[in-house]
Amino acid sequence: MTLVATLDTSFDLLEGETLLEGLERTGHEVEYQCRSGYCGSCRTRLISGEVRYISDPLAFISRNEVLPCCCVPVDTVHLEVARTYEPEQPSLSEELEPQSSLDFNKS
Ligand code: FES
Repeated sequence: MTLVATLDTSFDLLEGETLLEGLERTGHEVEYQCRSGYCGSCRTRLISGEVRYISDPLAFISRNEVLPCCCVPVDTVHLEVARTYEPEQPSLSEELEPQSSLDFNKS
């Protein structure tokens, strides 16, 4: 598994998952159309790290951008994308946070 950090959380990419699928699973809304590296809709800014393309992308990308629909991280990556909805499963960082803020006396 590979760690993916975004602007507000981090998570492990699951076996066989593309970077886009991992972002979607953890509540990040990334635009997409082809999901195959052709259209460029999913273009996302890479803050640090390196990715490997599953298939050669045809869409133009700058040096500091990636197409998450068709790549996986080589090692830990940091992306400029924020979470926009609550994921079905909590992210790794949320699973590890202590639950000290719970107040069972509130109604
Ligand atoms: S969705 Fe088309 S290049 Fe990623």
